[in-house]
Amino acid sequence: MESARDGGMIKPIALSATHMECRDLHESMAVLTDLLAFEKVAEKPGEAILKHPNTHWLLVVHEAGPDAPTKQMHNHWGVRVATTEEVDRAYEYLNAHKAEYKLGAIGRPLWNHGSYSCYFVEPGTNGWEIESYEAVNRKESAKAKAGGVRGPHWTSHFPEERFPGRGYVPQGFTHGTLVARDMNVNRKFYTEVLGLEVHQANDHVIYVKHPNTKTYIVCAERKEFKVFSPNFRNTLTVESNETVKEAYRLFSEEGDSLGVTELFPINENGSSNSFFFRDPGTNCWEITSHP
Ligand SMILES: [Fe+2]
Repeated sequence: MESARDGGMIKPIALSATHMECRDLHESMAVLTDLLAFEKVAEKPGEAILKHPNTHWLLVVHEAGPDAPTKQMHNHWGVRVATTEEVDRAYEYLNAHKAEYKLGAIGRPLWNHGSYSCYFVEPGTNGWEIESYEAVNRKESAKAKAGGVRGPHWTSHFPEERFPGRGYVPQGFTHGTLVARDMNVNRKFYTEVLGLEVHQANDHVIYVKHPNTKTYIVCAERKEFKVFSPNFRNTLTVESNETVKEAYRLFSEEGDSLGVTELFPINENGSSNSFFFRDPGTNCWEITSHP
């Protein structure tokens, strides 16, 4: 594990949210709530904030209309069920409701680095994964490895009564994804600049997380990938508006040498300040003082 939290230039208090772009908010929300157990926290025209009741990470969904670019499966998000059997049942349930929810491809469940997962495409073209780490979690020692991301992310079981009739129960919202051209460059940026924790998952993959939570972002090295609008980003919350401004000053003055590949204007309107930037792998991030 590598953590440069004390030495990290930005000192985020949370990896608070992740943002997904969709084509039709209504269609994508139906999938997220009915098939993945998210609940709506807030909604305004063209945007909704969702949360799985058993985990902290917010999912902000932005509607970009029918011409929003097609996403790729290596950018995806994942929820976790407790058992491998539930992944198989999820696969059956998704197939049975494919037309109703306008789902794209639904992949047969497969084993992948210790998880057993079913991947599918929601109507906004985003990939989603329903994963189980039941097999890994049979070994007590495995739960604590890699920052504990493969162990339970919740303190109490999400009961089937809250998500009945599907044959599977998403227990929590666990992960998102990032891409890197050069893993070592991204790793250094996440620890030394963003003050996050990095764990090696395998030769080509790292897990990036905030030290206080198990939510993780899987960063994989890719030769080719698309760059999307800031509608696809992850949010770090810092302590105050002043902290946002300090971070902005730092990135304005030293961003190039730190690995910031694009810096967007700061937003100082309203009660919280925020700005977007891209990391060395072109992934978009937001730093905000919003809780
Ligand atoms: Fe995944």
